Amino acid sequence: YNLPNLSLQWIIIQSGIFSFGAGLLTYRLIPTISELTSTANLTGMDLNKKGNPKYSGKKIPESLGICVSVVYLVCVILFQLFQWFSFPETVQLSEYNAALTSICFMILLGFGDDVLNLRWRYKLVLPLFASLPLLVAYAGGTSVVVPDINFPVPLREWLGMTFDLGVFYRIYLLMLAIFCTNSINILAGINGLEVGQSVVIAISIIVHNLIELTISPNSQQHLFSLVLMIPFLFTAISLLFYNWYPSRVFVGDTFTYFSGMCFAVVAILCHFSKTLLLFFIPQILNFLYSTPQLFGVIPCPRHRVPKYNPTTDKMEAIPTNLTIINLLLMVTGPLSERKLCIYLLIFQGLCSCIGFGVRYFVAPYFF
Ligand code: UD1
Ligand code: MG
Repeated sequence: YNLPNLSLQWIIIQSGIFSFGAGLLTYRLIPTISELTSTANLTGMDLNKKGNPKYSGKKIPESLGICVSVVYLVCVILFQLFQWFSFPETVQLSEYNAALTSICFMILLGFGDDVLNLRWRYKLVLPLFASLPLLVAYAGGTSVVVPDINFPVPLREWLGMTFDLGVFYRIYLLMLAIFCTNSINILAGINGLEVGQSVVIAISIIVHNLIELTISPNSQQHLFSLVLMIPFLFTAISLLFYNWYPSRVFVGDTFTYFSGMCFAVVAILCHFSKTLLLFFIPQILNFLYSTPQLFGVIPCPRHRVPKYNPTTDKMEAIPTNLTIINLLLMVTGPLSERKLCIYLLIFQGLCSCIGFGVRYFVAPYFF
């Protein structure tokens, strides 16, 4: 009998059961909460339906990320309590709590942003504050493994097997959190995209954790990542049902910040930030392509969405809005909003496959 292996599977199954319950609860709560956010005037116009007689003029409830994230927090806290009753000696509370504090802080700041509509240069720094609890609790090493490359210089001969980045490693982690939250938020503006990309990334992380746990069942940190990612996946899928084209609710910056922070937290505490960045290839491309607008070289309108054409019911590229959404439209020609989102999600999935290829077939040559 392989006992640790068995209890490992059992913890994953328990987390699955809790998360399924959380997903169902989210699904049931969203209609009620969306009425409340509407009453509180947290609503938005669907930009890509302007002129469409079927949808135009309707105000869509905003910030439903608040419902998802609160159910998520309750779920992981109850799971933590349950684990503590069952196996008090195995639970590492300090990092788990730091993770929850950072996620919780980010939800607060995201919701604050939705209510107060902050200027986007302030949005950029919010994750910096939210990731502080995590950085304080971060007890892992600050060294990186030096790649085994001899060209142009023999790196390992010069630097050794590992190289201590010291305080720069913590700065790197901060920047990772800022990048994850903002990069999801700026790849947005069409129905289903914000949640859809988060779901694809969460699935990729879960698959990665499961592969790692199969290779070495003692890698505790991947189990830790799983118990944070499984409830995220289930609650986000429930939100996707409502946010999918034609959207009945919008997710708000509450959700984009919450999801970005969840990914950053698990990657930091579980030491797979490089792999995470492989799953973020579309967001990295979108960010790099956006830089002229983000840094003010080219004017940046409040919304950088493509143009909706009511006569064809299709989305058309606006070449001056530098997002990969518009770039895709320039390649494919006009697409319906639903198809555009599906294509972008397929691209996200393909990038994850490339990421897995790099992680498991290319990286071993260098490390
Ligand atoms: C970011 C993007 C912006 C994009 C917006 C859409 C940058 C710098 N900012 O801004 O270009 O337009 O996200 O979320 O890249 N909306 C829709 N359909 C959707 C989703 C959102 O019409 O499927 C509209 C609604 O009016 C909604 C609003 O976008 O109320 C939400 O915008 P918000 O998330 O506050 O924008 P930002 O995150 O600041
Ligand atoms: Mg947003």
